[in-house]
Amino acid sequence: MYTINMDFPKDFIWGTATSAHQTEGNNTNSDWWKWEVEKDGRRDLPLESSGQACDSYNRYSEDFELCKQLNTNAVRLSIEWARIEPRRGMYDTKALEHYKKVLKTAKEKGLKTFVTFHHFTNPTWLAETGGWLNFKTPGLFAKFAKKSAETLGEYCDTIATINEPQVYASMSYLVGTWPPQKKSLLWALIVQINMIRAHNAAYKKIKEVCNKPVGIVKNISWYEYSSFTVLDKVIAKTLYYFNSHSFLKRIRKNLDFIGLNYYFTNRVVKLRIRNPDNPVNDLGWWINYDGLYKVLMSLKKYDLPIFITENGLADSHDRQRTDFIKKMLTQVHAALSHGVKIKGYFYWSLLDNYEWHHGFWPRFGLIEVDRENGLKRIPRKSFYDYAEICKNGIVK
Ligand code: FCB
Repeated sequence: MYTINMDFPKDFIWGTATSAHQTEGNNTNSDWWKWEVEKDGRRDLPLESSGQACDSYNRYSEDFELCKQLNTNAVRLSIEWARIEPRRGMYDTKALEHYKKVLKTAKEKGLKTFVTFHHFTNPTWLAETGGWLNFKTPGLFAKFAKKSAETLGEYCDTIATINEPQVYASMSYLVGTWPPQKKSLLWALIVQINMIRAHNAAYKKIKEVCNKPVGIVKNISWYEYSSFTVLDKVIAKTLYYFNSHSFLKRIRKNLDFIGLNYYFTNRVVKLRIRNPDNPVNDLGWWINYDGLYKVLMSLKKYDLPIFITENGLADSHDRQRTDFIKKMLTQVHAALSHGVKIKGYFYWSLLDNYEWHHGFWPRFGLIEVDRENGLKRIPRKSFYDYAEICKNGIVK
């Protein structure tokens, strides 16, 4: 339950999050795009392509206007490597100019810009030379990051190098659902190591040209355990450690803030992950509120500013969204009052968008995107409820 009238600090950042490939449309030079169009009846490939997505490449101004109506003071988005560097070493000035315009527009509308440099997608040329398995990729990423920071840094309030490196490594190289669909623990570990190296290298390169705070966006789930066996406890603790500290400590020296994406908790029962079927979102993800509090408390030791860079749910009928946001914010408030330096909260997502291999059916948006009707933006009830929270920074 949330208590009555929880006040958040006056300078708290209230925002929403999106990513380039999921919203912009026509990301034709990326490995994801190539993979989507190559499906040709292969059933293991996604049924739906991203196509026009939300056409935010053209409609960004309209989207930022909605952010303003939402009373948010910040927006999280990503720039697309495949557009900025469509061929190795060749930077597309038009693409950079485009992003400059996008970021400037956001700022003109009173929104701080939280910019991510890598959000799951890669230029095709990179994928063709081994992608994140190639030990040269961290250096190539750092070069791209430096170029982007040089040109766009002035319009970024914060920069996150990579979004959810461990999710990327496991979905693309261990579980094998995402391109390039590999299933190897060793390869997933190599990718993870390369992403750690990429972050550390990019951090230094960005700092050479721009003095904005630079961090990473890390997905961290909490792990609970049943009391049946001690082994469950050991498994839960080990999984949590690998999902959080083992990664963070390797980049700790090169972090100005931590971006935390929290969606769910996993429960280890009799040596396996068996989560309750209730309450869940449309994707079956277990909705667990105090997991967020526990993750936040465990990050306190880093003594770094923390932004919750993603938190949200697929809820096509908008039945649970408002309650979900309020209850999650209650956990944030509790962690704040226990001294965790939480500086902001970004709801995922502003708009319904392309949810990777699932296609468009999971609806995460505060705003419905009507795909039958020219991608019309239709704010849901939760949009107005979140707007009320962001207006004064009070959860009632
Ligand atoms: C996160 C991703 C984001 C979106 C949400 C639902 O893992 O960063 O792109 O797909 O999940």
